[in-house]
Amino acid sequence: MRDTVLDHLHLLNFKNHPELEVDFSPGLNAFVGKNGAGKTNVLDAIYYLCTTKSYFHTTDADHVRHGETFFAIRGLFRSDDGPIKVHCAVQPSQKKSFRVDDSEYARLSDHIGRFPVVVISPSDRDLLSEGSALRRKFLDGMVAQSDRVYLDRLLQYQRVVQQRNALLKYFAANRVFSAEQLALYDVQLCALAPDLHAARLAFTSAFAPELQRFYSLLSGGQEAVDWTYESDLNNAPLDQLLRDSLARDRVVQYTTTGLHKDDLVFTLNGHPLKKVGSQGQQKSYLVSVKLAQFAQLTRSLGRKPLLLLDDVFDKLDAERVEALVSLVKAQEFGQIFLSDTHADRTNALVKRMDPDGRVVVLEL
Ligand SMILES: Nc1ncnc2c1ncn2[C@@H]1O[C@H](COP(=O)(O)OP(=O)(O)OP(=O)(O)O)[C@@H](O)[C@H]1O
Ligand SMILES: [Mg+2]
Repeated sequence: MRDTVLDHLHLLNFKNHPELEVDFSPGLNAFVGKNGAGKTNVLDAIYYLCTTKSYFHTTDADHVRHGETFFAIRGLFRSDDGPIKVHCAVQPSQKKSFRVDDSEYARLSDHIGRFPVVVISPSDRDLLSEGSALRRKFLDGMVAQSDRVYLDRLLQYQRVVQQRNALLKYFAANRVFSAEQLALYDVQLCALAPDLHAARLAFTSAFAPELQRFYSLLSGGQEAVDWTYESDLNNAPLDQLLRDSLARDRVVQYTTTGLHKDDLVFTLNGHPLKKVGSQGQQKSYLVSVKLAQFAQLTRSLGRKPLLLLDDVFDKLDAERVEALVSLVKAQEFGQIFLSDTHADRTNALVKRMDPDGRVVVLEL
């Protein structure tokens, strides 16, 4: 299968863009404009078109241009059989519509992984600074883009956890308890958990060598980088964990153990990156995570995802940009979309990375 390539994008009422229509190069594309011109918004629209969601975990209503009632994104992707049209129209409070070549998806999740995408953004810092929920979302997003079955199982697992939590609340509110009722959910969770856990484990261990490769390349440093996948299920099967935590679950009225508590710990020379990493080391690490994600998706899908590089010079100083240029020259990447505020700097970069690249100027 060929690499993912977006040839054309059309936005309507998406955030600050009343209407925007752009043709792209299959190689490098750059958005240039002042702060607030809407560069990040366009990249997010591309992400949305690929994943049915914003990169920024915001609600759909936030993406509708102020004063309007809906937004729409249309894109033309390449495929071996000619162009594929992806169209999404979102009117908050109504069902989201996602169509590929004019046929509507039965389930939005069926779209995930068809047009794979990796983002490098200043907000990646949140992966270090925020709680485990964001890292789990990140991990799931990575695995799900290359593993359909994983996503289905995960959505099921999350639904059952919610139902189990509701039941625990019901028990507490009504001062009742039924082991049989709870067991109905436990059985479902225990059936789903081993495969989900194995997929996360396999993914995180295969990832480490790529992470190290990109980190060394970007930073030129000698540090050892790795990550640890923390899960209650590393130590015991879920049925035992659920039994052991039953008393606690009844008190706090939610499910305190399981895959929905997993975490990733980023490490530098064996210590938590968050504690020991300098700002530059943290930056290199986070970019390396994303590049490793790109490499791993490419391997598992057999084709390259889109790469979105928001605020490229926030992430990469001159030296790291050189390393990136060399990766592009070595054809590690397919189609790239980047954003920057300085026209001259961007034009120079595009010229060096891809003479046939496109620079799109966004005016305020
Ligand atoms: N729903 C909305 N309706 C209209 N405008 C919006 C909406 N949401 C955000 N904006 C506007 O979009 C602009 C921000 O766009 P964006 O973050 O894409 O800018 P940017 O070009 O990436 O800037 P920077 O260089 O600072 O990163 C702001 O001016 C903001 O007011
Ligand atoms: Mg921006």
